[in-house]
Amino acid sequence: MKVLVVYGSRLGATRGIAERIAARLQAAGLDAGLQAAEQVAELPACDAFVIGSGIYGQHWMKEAVALVRRNRAALSKVPVWLFSSGPVGRWASGHDPIEPKEVSGLRAEVGARDHRVFAGALDRSSIDESNLSAIERFVTRKFMAEGDYRDWAQIDAWAEAIARELLRDPRPSRQAGQLGR
Ligand SMILES: Cc1cc2nc3c(=O)[nH]c(=O)nc-3n(C[C@H](O)[C@H](O)[C@H](O)COP(=O)(O)O)c2cc1C
Repeated sequence: MKVLVVYGSRLGATRGIAERIAARLQAAGLDAGLQAAEQVAELPACDAFVIGSGIYGQHWMKEAVALVRRNRAALSKVPVWLFSSGPVGRWASGHDPIEPKEVSGLRAEVGARDHRVFAGALDRSSIDESNLSAIERFVTRKFMAEGDYRDWAQIDAWAEAIARELLRDPRPSRQAGQLGR
């Protein structure tokens, strides 16, 4: 059973989560591949997809949003899971995760089975501030705590639940237009 994990990642944290999910799916016996959203125009035929993005200013990255929208007809025919990688510092735990603005629409468009917000990671040395807008620079300096807050046990558990669901029930997802669980 073929599964593709696709990610939008500006600074590498979401790519790391996507790599981990693909590795767990493989360990569970699925044929899992990995691809960056900006490198995929049209999604290949697969039995399921896991698609994620880093969060910037409460939005998914535009490459990841565009990929889901462009491929929504194909995605609505197979099981799809979505994830986001964002909160860092004191926002990484003990707060209800804030869903990026596009996510409820994307979930409905493809009939996604689930969406998770995972804590992210931020390494200031990887940020070229000249690539940030004035607001992004301000937010990064004032509110973004540096560090790796990714919870690998939580990510592994989610990937393993996906594998179990696929191996037990490889049928297409529910009808597009309905919200996933
Ligand atoms: C300019 C900027 C804006 C951000 N905005 C948000 C945000 O609105 N919500 C959030 O949860 N995290 C936000 N973050 C944290 C990132 O989402 C987090 O570092 C994420 O793991 C980065 O993913 P990436 O390395 O794959 O690009 C922001 C980070 C930066 C640098």
